[in-house]
Amino acid sequence: MAKKSLFDLYNMKKQGEKIAWLTSYDFPTAQFAEAAGLDMILVGDSLGMCVYGYNGTVPVTMDQCIQHCQAVRRGAPNTFVVGDMPFLSYQTTDADAVYNAGRFLKEADVDAVKLEGGVRVADRIRAISDAGIVAVGHIGLTPQSSGLLGGHKAQGRTADAAKLTVEDAVAVEKAGAKLILVEAVPPEVTAYITKILTIPVLSIGAGLPCDGQLLIVSDLIGQFQAFTPKFVKKYANVAEVVTNAMKEYVKDVKGSKFPADEHTYKMVAGEEEKFLKLMNGK
Ligand code: KIV
Repeated sequence: MAKKSLFDLYNMKKQGEKIAWLTSYDFPTAQFAEAAGLDMILVGDSLGMCVYGYNGTVPVTMDQCIQHCQAVRRGAPNTFVVGDMPFLSYQTTDADAVYNAGRFLKEADVDAVKLEGGVRVADRIRAISDAGIVAVGHIGLTPQSSGLLGGHKAQGRTADAAKLTVEDAVAVEKAGAKLILVEAVPPEVTAYITKILTIPVLSIGAGLPCDGQLLIVSDLIGQFQAFTPKFVKKYANVAEVVTNAMKEYVKDVKGSKFPADEHTYKMVAGEEEKFLKLMNGK
């Protein structure tokens, strides 16, 4: 299938076709995602938790994000890939934001970059967009600044908080973002945002009434063990499948059942005798 362009994603919004978006962090998973028909892949800084075992996303570096984007691009050459800007890659100055966003394009051939925040990062979004780079906004629960939000909590649950979330969404669109992700807000707020914005609105934990959904692949396949957010639907239990396979392997090794004949290279016929003679010096 041909790679979706931004234009295709806008057409999907117009025609009411939902956009299916999933994170991936490595080459094989990106191959699976492309084969499964995902419209978009996010190489999220959630790789900090899902791949490296950090407690959160804050320690993730630009170089780690670039390397994972490169692997994903090799696995999914025909999918719209979004690189996630890690903590401190854009918060400092407009110049840092443009430089680091540009690195994603130059070094990893991504189609867009995502950055967290609404009103407070509008200038950064504008700078990145003015540099000709497709920026994706991310509002609601923004994990890089979860300290400010009092932890990993749903946002926009009161009328006043919902108004702030809407103001963030409007600021992101006005600043030039071409797509927006809304995380962990009630569907009533998502529906309102989707009605007033012209750009496609994607949800992770923000309900159904919008233009598409994002999930974290490690949650979807049941690989990430530390915790499961309310909004996750597990479609498989890879942790169980893999652990059971490893247990079987341990059993086979201990019981001398692996490797079996079919896993073993054979000597050329008649060569074993010659070999033993050679070693015995006869
Ligand atoms: O890094 C990521 O996967 C994300 C999601 C939490 C939305 O930004």
